Amino acid sequence: MDTLDQLVSSAVSDFAAATESARLEDAKARYLGKEGALTVLLKGLGKLPADERKVAGAAINLAKERIESALVARREALKNAQLETQLAAEALDVTLPGRGMPRGSLHPVTRSLERIEALFRSIGFEVADGPEIETDWHNFTALNTPENHPARSMHDTFYLRDEEGRVAEDVLLRTHTSPVQIRTMLAHAERHKHLDRLPELRVICPGRVYRVDSDATHSPMFHQVEGLWIGEQVSFADLKGVVADFLRRFFESDDLKVRFRPSFFPFTEPSAEIDVAFMSGPLEGRWLEIAGCGMVHPNVLRFGGFDPEKYTGFAFGMGPDRLTMLRYSIPDLRLFFEGDLRFLSQFH
Ligand code: FA5
Ligand code: MG
Repeated sequence: MDTLDQLVSSAVSDFAAATESARLEDAKARYLGKEGALTVLLKGLGKLPADERKVAGAAINLAKERIESALVARREALKNAQLETQLAAEALDVTLPGRGMPRGSLHPVTRSLERIEALFRSIGFEVADGPEIETDWHNFTALNTPENHPARSMHDTFYLRDEEGRVAEDVLLRTHTSPVQIRTMLAHAERHKHLDRLPELRVICPGRVYRVDSDATHSPMFHQVEGLWIGEQVSFADLKGVVADFLRRFFESDDLKVRFRPSFFPFTEPSAEIDVAFMSGPLEGRWLEIAGCGMVHPNVLRFGGFDPEKYTGFAFGMGPDRLTMLRYSIPDLRLFFEGDLRFLSQFH
């Protein structure tokens, strides 16, 4: 039966020509589908005389099997080819070096803050904090700086505006961490009000503060660490001892140049400012003010709920940004806040 052989070889070549499975299934329909060539032949068997029917039927079925097996083989081949393409597209070169995660590092000022906290904790100070948006009362009034007091103009304050755009004079960005003194004293006095004598209060308060200020040693946002120690016998000598010991440990140096310079703050009396000299770098030998300090003013003790006849205390407010400048001999503090990784990633 030549026609059957032709049919088989034409099916095989049609299948081979189909390069995707939809085309292959179309080709299949042409031979094996309802109207397919093979199906038509099989249907025609009934019209043949009985003796021819058997031979012809066997031949047609054989051709059908050959076509079916060619179809299965082609289906398999197409599936493999598709898998190959997919594998090639998704190929992973496991020998390539990995991209890695660049190792981050702490901001130099954060490193200083962590050191400061650890050093003060080691001598029995607790760490407290307070809000950056402060009331005028906590930031000024309770710190013995009533309205119209000239000392208010020492701080260039950022005030907030209300919804109508008016300056809300009783809410501001805190200009120093000293308001946390008031908050901590009030909480301490309240917590221990059932006692005859208030236990000693020893606390530091690190945080961000804000002033309209900008040059090599002033940034509009900077950090302070407030320190406060109140008890029955706390003296200026204790203040000097604690600060001097802290500075020696912070700078890991015994021959640090430190000076206490008489100064004025409404909330301390007497008051001083503390300067430290650069130990190396372009500013070697130059003094930099790092803190204000003094004995807590009796009015402030009273505002904080402590009887100034019974308790005395010292307080300081230092600038960890300035301490960081000194520690790494950095001449301009604004470098800390520009976010330039070439600068920041040098501190490990
Ligand atoms: C005060 O803010 C007082 N509240 C400090 C204080 C606390 C005195 C408790 C007495 C008792 P002063 O304005 O000097 O003081 O700021 C304290 C320190 O903050 C400065 O010595 C300096 O180290 C740092 N500092 C002040 N302004 C800036 C600024 N714009 N940028 C960076 N650091 C600053
Ligand atoms: Mg000052």
